[in-house]
Amino acid sequence: MFKRILLMCRPGFEKECAGEIIQIANRQVSSTYIQARENSGIVYLVSHSNAEITGLIHTVVFKQLVFSRQWIMTTDKALSLPDNNRLPAILNTIKKFDCHVQAIEMDYADTNEGKALNKFCRQFKPHLLEALQQHHLLNDHAPWRLHLFFHHSQQVDIGLSPVANSAQHAMGILRLKMPAAAPSRSTLKLEEAIHWFLSPARQQKLLVPGMHAVDLGAAPGGWSWQLVQRGCLVTAIDNGPMQDALMHTGMVEHLQTDAFTYAPAKKVDWLVCDMAERPLHVSRLIARWFNQQQCSHAIFNLKLPMKKRLACVQECLALLDKSLSSAKISYYIQAKQLYHDREEITVCIIT
Ligand SMILES: C[S@@+](CC[C@H](N)C(=O)[O-])C[C@H]1O[C@@H](n2cnc3c(N)ncnc32)[C@H](O)[C@@H]1O
Repeated sequence: MFKRILLMCRPGFEKECAGEIIQIANRQVSSTYIQARENSGIVYLVSHSNAEITGLIHTVVFKQLVFSRQWIMTTDKALSLPDNNRLPAILNTIKKFDCHVQAIEMDYADTNEGKALNKFCRQFKPHLLEALQQHHLLNDHAPWRLHLFFHHSQQVDIGLSPVANSAQHAMGILRLKMPAAAPSRSTLKLEEAIHWFLSPARQQKLLVPGMHAVDLGAAPGGWSWQLVQRGCLVTAIDNGPMQDALMHTGMVEHLQTDAFTYAPAKKVDWLVCDMAERPLHVSRLIARWFNQQQCSHAIFNLKLPMKKRLACVQECLALLDKSLSSAKISYYIQAKQLYHDREEITVCIIT
């Protein structure tokens, strides 16, 4: 039944998304291969075996994928639909899945053509929901989410994702409103990172008023602003100017110095870093902060303007792992290309 996994990614990052999933799949199964088109925003992992695909979607931990926003296991080819009355053909396929679903998600690629389907999807969803209800296919406790990934209004990939092992937001996109008072749009990157990497329970424990943070490459202050909103006291390191209103909160100390030589007087709770510097250079800096016990947790960006982006990310993560492990630091690391990230990824380390 299921012969492919459709993975959604940032358009232009299909090679990285594909490289990552095929490496992981090859460790578990032998016959998978990739189908992908540049700038399409999607990648297919294909197999001849239903067992391989369902096995992978259960055993690969979705959160460990850096470049994939959402994934769906789907059939061997997309379903062609008539111009009107699309529901019977769609329901026919869904019934063959022989399972209940907890929710439905209408998907499309994060491209201009994809986004043009937004209105169509919004209008179609209530009809599908009603039909699923009539056919008793919805169940709040079912482990599956139903996906309809539209390529255009007459072609759809229909599939399932495990609710517990997939993105919780439609298409893996957390839409955030730009706060009017924030000093820069970059603020959304840290806000999304906090939501993605820290569950509400973890936020309540690890990011609370009165904590101390250092923001490397802070100007004009979008990341510092997020931390101040959460009651943190921030030391902002940057030669550039910080936003006046943020400085007037009295919560931020601005030091015009080089982030690579600065060291805090005592250990801080959080290190954040959004510098446009070479990723390996940034990774070494972050590793040094942990090894010298200068911070408890960190969120930082790795900029990826180079060609071999996946190899670079893996080199950085390996460096961090080697460095922290040899210092006997017990830590949890996660990396993700967030929706608000462009040619970059965000990494979170918690100790
Ligand atoms: C992308 S901007 C940071 C934006 C910021 N996170 C925000 O939300 O407003 C990168 C900043 O890193 C700073 N930067 C780059 N290299 C630096 C270094 N070696 N030391 C201190 N700051 C540095 C730049 O001056 C620049 O302001």
